[in-house]
Amino acid sequence: MAKILMVASEAHPFAKTGGLADVVGALPVALQAFGDEAAVVMPRYRSIPRQEAVLVREDVRIWLNGGFYNVNIYLKLNRGVKFYFIDCHGLLDRDGIYGDRAGDFGDNALRFAVLCLAALEVSRHLFRADIFHCHDWQAALLPLYRKFFFPDDPAFAGTKTLFTIHNLGYQGYFPQRQLTEIGLDDRFWNAGALEFHGGGNLLKAGLIWADYLSTVSPNYAREIQTAEFGCGMEGILRARSGQLAGILNGVDYDDWSPETDRFLAAPYSARNLAGKLACKRDLLEYFGFPLDDRHLRRPIIGVVSRFAEQKGLDLVGQIIAPILDEELTLIVLGSGDPKLEDMFNHLNWARPDKFRCWIGHNNPLAHRIEAGADMFLMPSRYEPCGLNQMYSLRYGTLPIVHATGGLDDTVDGETGFKFWGAYAPHLLDAIRHAVKVFWNDPDQWARMVRTAMARDYSWNASASAYSGLYQALLEDPQAQAESFPPPVAS
Ligand code: ADP
Ligand code: GLC
Repeated sequence: MAKILMVASEAHPFAKTGGLADVVGALPVALQAFGDEAAVVMPRYRSIPRQEAVLVREDVRIWLNGGFYNVNIYLKLNRGVKFYFIDCHGLLDRDGIYGDRAGDFGDNALRFAVLCLAALEVSRHLFRADIFHCHDWQAALLPLYRKFFFPDDPAFAGTKTLFTIHNLGYQGYFPQRQLTEIGLDDRFWNAGALEFHGGGNLLKAGLIWADYLSTVSPNYAREIQTAEFGCGMEGILRARSGQLAGILNGVDYDDWSPETDRFLAAPYSARNLAGKLACKRDLLEYFGFPLDDRHLRRPIIGVVSRFAEQKGLDLVGQIIAPILDEELTLIVLGSGDPKLEDMFNHLNWARPDKFRCWIGHNNPLAHRIEAGADMFLMPSRYEPCGLNQMYSLRYGTLPIVHATGGLDDTVDGETGFKFWGAYAPHLLDAIRHAVKVFWNDPDQWARMVRTAMARDYSWNASASAYSGLYQALLEDPQAQAESFPPPVAS
């Protein structure tokens, strides 16, 4: 039984841009079953109302680079989990999580440095952690600060740090002068520390100085040790491969089950699929398609995604004409890369017979697409875990995926359609194959839907693996010393 303080930039239901939020929202709840107590530290963004939380600590000073920032700490209980919100006027109290329409905020290094230092203060004053479980680059400075700013502080004696990589594609890369602003002197300015191709790389702080590393699927844990997927970090990750676990994310079935999903037109289950047809009708109606036999019968392929290079949606663009030659409907929800937004917006009026998109973030619609579609498309170039394909399995919406990362770990020939190599012709073959099975072999389709819906990707197994890892870390007095190479002076 351990006390875990999770540190992250997003958590469902308070702030979300992607799967990180789903994980940080659900894992602490799942850990309760294993006797661990996990709390979460995250920023209080402007979208999180102060009056719905309790002010538990006022005017905590966060010292950095000779000056200090004042933060207030708010507490809110959600599903039995304590959420500590760090309120910092001018820094974290903003509308956007990472940026606004003009792009990423220029002071993100500072914003998340303050988050990490404030998390240590949460442990000192409010929730004495055994383990700091840090997620992605925004929390990567915590192991460094804990080690070098507070080496002998009794408040942190015996504590361990676990750093989870959700996506190596985002490394927190800043100009050198910003390292000074976050209190890091020349010792950290070399390739063995945070320097990376002439800039400062905050992710490296977690990769080098956390006691243990994990990532979100066994396959991605292997992939990131190669030059193809390592994004320049493969050397460090190979060197630490003995301290790198791959633990698959789970699904929060309280949120994502067709039997109980409050966003659906009708509930359904593997035993009674009538509701799924009602959801299909609802989805077609929402997007203004005629509710005739042709539209109801032909398969809907759904996409719910950030529009980022990672997600491979440009491949769909390359073959959109032959895709839409098939007898199907394609529905896309997402936002991001303006080129992709333009392409999908254009298709909205160019191919109204078969295509619709909704540009933006829309959680209820994401649920309705999962339920109303027949197939779910994820042509990701790389995918550390991916949650939507697991949601799709539960909703009987067969995934079509590129065989990479967690997609390869969670989808097989009995539950979906895979293609190898992120190339448009391979993707087109997979789509055509799925469409062919749908039209020509209803028995096989029904069998696959039943098999997919029966697959169990609940948090249970993953939370058990994390709990075991926490325990092992606490029982291993050597872990800390071994994994803390000191920075060398440049
Ligand atoms: P990633 O974290 O890389 O974006 P995941 O598959 O792990 O990919 O998680 C994505 C999460 O974000 C899922 O919960 C998905 O439903 C949600 N999501 C992505 N885009 C949207 C959107 N436009 N509207 C609503 N939810 C979205
Ligand atoms: C990242 C990854 C995604 C993963 C999610 C949660 O955003 O891109 O594959 O599922 O984090 O771990």
